[in-house]
Amino acid sequence: MYSIALYPGDGIGIEVLDEAVSVLKAVEEVRGQKLFDFTQFDWGSVLWKRTGRLVPENYLDKLRDFDVVFLGALGDPANVPDHISLVPLIEMRQSFDQYVCLRPAKLLPGVRCPLAGKECGDIDILVIRENSEGEYADVGGGLKVGWEDEISIQTAVHTRHGIERIIRYAFTAAGLRRDKLTVATKSNALKYGMVLWDATFEDVRKDYPHIKADKCHVDALAMNLVRWPERYDVVVASNLFGDILSDLGGVISGSLGMAPSANINPERRYPSLFEPVHGSAPDIAGKGVANPIAAIRSGAMMLEFLGLQEEATLVENAVKGCLVDGRALTPDIGGSAATSIVGADIRSRILAQ
Ligand code: NAD
Ligand code: IPM
Ligand code: MN
Repeated sequence: MYSIALYPGDGIGIEVLDEAVSVLKAVEEVRGQKLFDFTQFDWGSVLWKRTGRLVPENYLDKLRDFDVVFLGALGDPANVPDHISLVPLIEMRQSFDQYVCLRPAKLLPGVRCPLAGKECGDIDILVIRENSEGEYADVGGGLKVGWEDEISIQTAVHTRHGIERIIRYAFTAAGLRRDKLTVATKSNALKYGMVLWDATFEDVRKDYPHIKADKCHVDALAMNLVRWPERYDVVVASNLFGDILSDLGGVISGSLGMAPSANINPERRYPSLFEPVHGSAPDIAGKGVANPIAAIRSGAMMLEFLGLQEEATLVENAVKGCLVDGRALTPDIGGSAATSIVGADIRSRILAQ
């Protein structure tokens, strides 16, 4: 039995996690065995309205002993400022040392690519995002706040230790795929942090001579991912660059609504966290049209992390079946089906195995 903390969060996070959990329950049913022990935490903007807090003070302690955390999405910008409502997410990643963020961008069969002429097989990229420091280090402050001459300072913190461990992880990941690695940089302008990224990359690459590795400035890389996505395999990037490139990866693979992610503590000292790449999507929340596939595939990544490889493949195949069949697709990928219909379709494919 694996203990799973469910953190649905806000907006469509609640809607898509609900479907993804039902999919996990279908996996249990088809296996004829209870595999998961779920505990749900209804934290987020609803709790904020009631109590003025997004999460209980000891929320990290409450989560600490779970095997994994399965999250929907956070954010309710109409009611809580984003830099407050998203604190728990960034805090979990940093406190639980989930320094590897895996964000696969793969064009699946049956999905229309927004880039002309690209087909299934043309896009299979793994964005690996440094998830514990960099631009997201909470270092900075303000002066003369609210005045005309207000000053704000926001400092990035890049450590050789932090850069080296993510670049090594990325080299290893590339070795298990197509032996190609691209490091996102911006050392032409960011003369300290990104120069350290470049130098660390040059040191580490010596240990992986069989990997075809290169660096690319992140602006050019964004362009190249649009014009030549087929040339890329593993892309490793700092926290902020990885954030931006993974939304791009999601949409060129059909829709952000299908992009999964895993926030991993490779040493397994703390729980790892699984969530879709997308946010709470206030523009479609409550309408029942959110694509649940990103959350469902994040669930598949979680199964793989837990060692349930066959079960993960079962879910991935059910998703592919749904996409190829094409009758139960949400509007973001050209269909008109509701979130619940897509979830039900994927569950029925699992149960039919
Ligand atoms: P978003 O990812 O929520 O939405 C961007 C666009 O993609 C919207 O047009 C939305 O409708 C669409 N979209 C996203 N997920 C979809 C899905 N599953 N199906 C169909 N369409 C989908 O990004 P945003 O609008 O910039 O942010 C909204 C809120 O979410 C903000 O509060 C933001 O801070 C937060 N956010 C949270 C997370 C997270 O919890 N991991 C990630 C990103 C943004
Ligand atoms: C993501 C999100 C978060 C991030 C935000 C909401 C803090 O965009 O998970 O990609 O920037 O990491
Ligand atoms: Mn993001």
